[in-house]
Amino acid sequence: MANIQLSDLEMFCQDVGRGQPLLLVHGFPLDHRMWRHQIASFRNSHRVLAPDLRGFGRTSVTAGTVTMARMADDLDALLAAMDISEPITFCGLSMGGYVGLEMVTRHRSRLSRLVLSDTRAANDLPEVAKGRGIMAHRLETEGIGFVAESMPTKLFAPETQQQRGELVAETVDVMNGTLARGAASAARGMAIRKDFSDRLDELDLPTLVLCGEYDEVTPPSEMREMAKRAPQAVYVEIPRAGHMSPLENPDDFNLALAGFLNGPVD
Ligand code: MLT
Repeated sequence: MANIQLSDLEMFCQDVGRGQPLLLVHGFPLDHRMWRHQIASFRNSHRVLAPDLRGFGRTSVTAGTVTMARMADDLDALLAAMDISEPITFCGLSMGGYVGLEMVTRHRSRLSRLVLSDTRAANDLPEVAKGRGIMAHRLETEGIGFVAESMPTKLFAPETQQQRGELVAETVDVMNGTLARGAASAARGMAIRKDFSDRLDELDLPTLVLCGEYDEVTPPSEMREMAKRAPQAVYVEIPRAGHMSPLENPDDFNLALAGFLNGPVD
């Protein structure tokens, strides 16, 4: 596992297993480790690529604003640098899903399938975008601690919070390890992301839409609607999970993903 030098950043990517490429793209403010159960399972059948996006984990930080489009372009450059020309399955959670929608628009030929997990197609409402600006400023002045403290209650299902303190604590550790400047740049990027809600009918590839039963950030009602509007989409709800469905219920998440990966390709 080495960092890969791209034109203006060094990007970390865990690269394990052999077979069709499966790209796992993490949410905010996390890194590739949130996919550990998927990496362990799918490395037996696929080449699993789990990068850290610009500003997160072991990838270099860019100050200012990092848009979802730029993150998608980074992934395109990463695949090129790794000599991967075979179409991939793109699987993104939340912010990773925002990047996925940009990837389809900007680098369609790279993808054979799309997995959108616990994410949304709509852009931010003005008050949400404003809140992100405030968060970015606080990140740069106070550090990441306040985000790591407040976010887990939103990310995990109540049952996970009550019964699986170690999982919540590990996630808090990952957040505390995220560089505040990197998170601030991504928060500003999310605030200006495009609205794809009227363009879901353009998703011309097999699409799996996954959502934790108790996801409060991107709720099942919204994701079900999203799946209805994408012509080739299938919706699967992950029981006993909140927004972090691949970590909270990896068995059901992996079952749904395996079924999709074994299905027809684009
Ligand atoms: C994430 O999990 O990536 C975040 O909840 C995305 C967001 O803040 O919109």
